Amino acid sequence: YVIGVDLGTSAVKLLLVNKSGEVVQEVSKDYPLIQEKTGHSEQKPEDWVEQTVAGLKELVEQFKGNVSEIEGLSFSGQMHGLVLLDAENKPLRNAILWNDTRTTPQCKEIYDKVGKTKFIDITKNLALEGFTLPKILWVKENEPDLFAQAKTFVLPKDYVRYRLTETLHMDYSDAAGTSLLDVAKKEWSQEICDLLDLPISICPPLVDSHENVGKITSTIADQTGLSTDTDVFAGGADNACGAIGSGILSEGKTFASIGTSGVVLSYEPTGDKDYQGKVHYFNHGEEDAYYAMGVTLAAGHSLNWFKTTFASDKSFEELLDGVGDVPVGANGLLFTPYVVGERTPHADSQIRGSFIGMDSSHTIKDFARSVLEGITFSLNESIAIFRENGKQIDTIYSIGGGAKNPDWLQMQADIFNANIVKLKSEQGPGMGAAMLAAFGSGWFSSLKDCADTFLEDAETYQPISANVEKYQQLFNLYKNVYT
Ligand code: XUL
Repeated sequence: YVIGVDLGTSAVKLLLVNKSGEVVQEVSKDYPLIQEKTGHSEQKPEDWVEQTVAGLKELVEQFKGNVSEIEGLSFSGQMHGLVLLDAENKPLRNAILWNDTRTTPQCKEIYDKVGKTKFIDITKNLALEGFTLPKILWVKENEPDLFAQAKTFVLPKDYVRYRLTETLHMDYSDAAGTSLLDVAKKEWSQEICDLLDLPISICPPLVDSHENVGKITSTIADQTGLSTDTDVFAGGADNACGAIGSGILSEGKTFASIGTSGVVLSYEPTGDKDYQGKVHYFNHGEEDAYYAMGVTLAAGHSLNWFKTTFASDKSFEELLDGVGDVPVGANGLLFTPYVVGERTPHADSQIRGSFIGMDSSHTIKDFARSVLEGITFSLNESIAIFRENGKQIDTIYSIGGGAKNPDWLQMQADIFNANIVKLKSEQGPGMGAAMLAAFGSGWFSSLKDCADTFLEDAETYQPISANVEKYQQLFNLYKNVYT
């Protein structure tokens, strides 16, 4: 057995997985978000550690077999969060999370001092408020006494892993989201550090996601009931682990994930593809591989907002029941899902959403359909960027909440003009983390071999050509709404 630990924003989810890839046990433990000022979003690293340890203990207690059969564990982590550590590796403050937006001035400062073109050349990404480097600069400028005590920084799951093993590392897939990594060269950027007057020594040692970084400490073994022989593998960023956990392990393989936010992610075999920062470009959890990724900030969040505001008496099933009978284009109603701003392709935290074309004949079903269509159009903007850059995308794995509704799956096939495949059992990033532990433990010769054993396709939705044509016209209208 192996354990996949998925350290998310609201909870840590742990999966105990056997050699056939079946999840035999599952535990989830939540922790609070601290939002003391507008735009601020923080968490206490100690909360992550406590809940991860409590989760491991519960998993072990429920486990019917012999604990020595649990060979190893690995991690998936929420990306970008800054955990600043002192000389004794103690956190100096709360972690500043990926969804914290206080750093707009620091993003501007990065472009001013490094130069936008050079910055994108090195990091392959734009300077965004959510990423780690602007947060480091924010602490340096706003909490100088505290920053003076900083010896190093890590990302959320790296801190939890450190507490489990007492070894400090960061894997490439998560390091890619710091804005300090030379993504193609797989090394920390001395140039960016120099131009921003940061000592490169604050950057921790880099490892690959499947690398064995040590065994759990005897204290953790005592606290959890796990054997002191349990190996710990570095793990990866949640999106990289989501990619592994849905088999995005070769050229052209792509997923569209609809959760609170939406993500379209596509495998890239090399580090030299140039999207000019239009989509994110990060190191994969598979050694030396990469992925390109576009983000819709409010995917499920738009639908959730709509239901809470206009249909709070209905369940999601009731709200979406019958949207398949509303014609393509929701009888002339068009929704843009910018209810908390948008990331890809606009990187605009100020833009807000819209319903266009409201008619007194429209019913709640027309509105529900237009919300689903608007979210899917937003995801299609990322797919369009991939295709404009020469990527062939014929098949897309649909994961997350958006993969639950058959009408929405058909809509994805028609809007993306691609076959939409659902996995038989979809466990998300936690499964990717478990697969890193399985591969790291030597169960398989590659992550691809592991995916062949662990993952299975269930259903496919094919695009209907008449719908594809209508949606292509509507997508052109959708794209114009922003300007
Ligand atoms: C990726 C991103 C989110 C977080 C969520 O750039 O900001 O997907 O990783 O955990």
